[in-house]
Amino acid sequence: MKVLSSSEETYRLVDQMRMQGKRIGIVPTMGALHEGHLSLVHKAKQQCDVAIATIFVNPTQFGPNEDLQKYPRTLQNDLELLSANGCDVVFTPTDAQMYPQDHSTFVEPPRVSQAWEGQIRPGHFRGVATIVLKLFQILPAHVGYFGRKDYQQVAVIRAMCRDLNLPIAIEACQTVRESDGLAMSSRNRYLSPSERQRALGLSRALKGAEMLIHQGCTDGRQIEKLMRKELESSPVDSIDYAAIVHPDTLEPIETITSEVVGIIAARVGTTRLIDNATFALH
Ligand code: PAF
Repeated sequence: MKVLSSSEETYRLVDQMRMQGKRIGIVPTMGALHEGHLSLVHKAKQQCDVAIATIFVNPTQFGPNEDLQKYPRTLQNDLELLSANGCDVVFTPTDAQMYPQDHSTFVEPPRVSQAWEGQIRPGHFRGVATIVLKLFQILPAHVGYFGRKDYQQVAVIRAMCRDLNLPIAIEACQTVRESDGLAMSSRNRYLSPSERQRALGLSRALKGAEMLIHQGCTDGRQIEKLMRKELESSPVDSIDYAAIVHPDTLEPIETITSEVVGIIAARVGTTRLIDNATFALH
């Protein structure tokens, strides 16, 4: 596995591979890798000739009161995991490389970024869109792999690629869960054992919503109420949102007539967690 930190060298390598006719898959990450990330590498390996991961804790997507400083950095372990899982190339740039002192150009993120995470974490998607576009420029891959756990992030990246005519396909991959339902996340390691138990409220609320829909309930508000009740009984410490939304626009749905997505963000202790699930109508 090649580990590169120079963007010029990385671009040259990917360009050469493209000229050899290779299909390239890119898995952007912030490190602190878990099974969810590795499943993206596996998907890239299945669908492409070359799987490239990037590891960069992107400062511009963190708000002033967020966890940038304490965000887990486990580079050595990440590299071992990537190598053991067949990753071909890893790009690990420094902050100064990605954001040199006079860096002042940012992507204005698409409309779908405005609600939910966008409202609670102002500037977050501007940072995500900017870094993802930069990574796509340095690593001109054919396919970008992202986890569905960050549902709105995938929607934002898809819309950015469409709006800016980026020649890359976006693959959204299944959320990987622990055996008890907790969605895997680098932030789960902040949870104490008792907080981890309470964090199960998120996946339980989504399961409850799914059951209600399968029983024939089409009232978005009623399902949201049920999700909140489940979260409150866990109990989580605060709920940022628990909503039933349209899968593309992420607008709230009052009456369900086709596929919808349940999205949740809640805090357990000081850890902010998100989760989501897609519900088909039967
Ligand atoms: O999902 C993440 O880990 C990050 O938001 C991403 C896409 C790597 C951009 O920094």
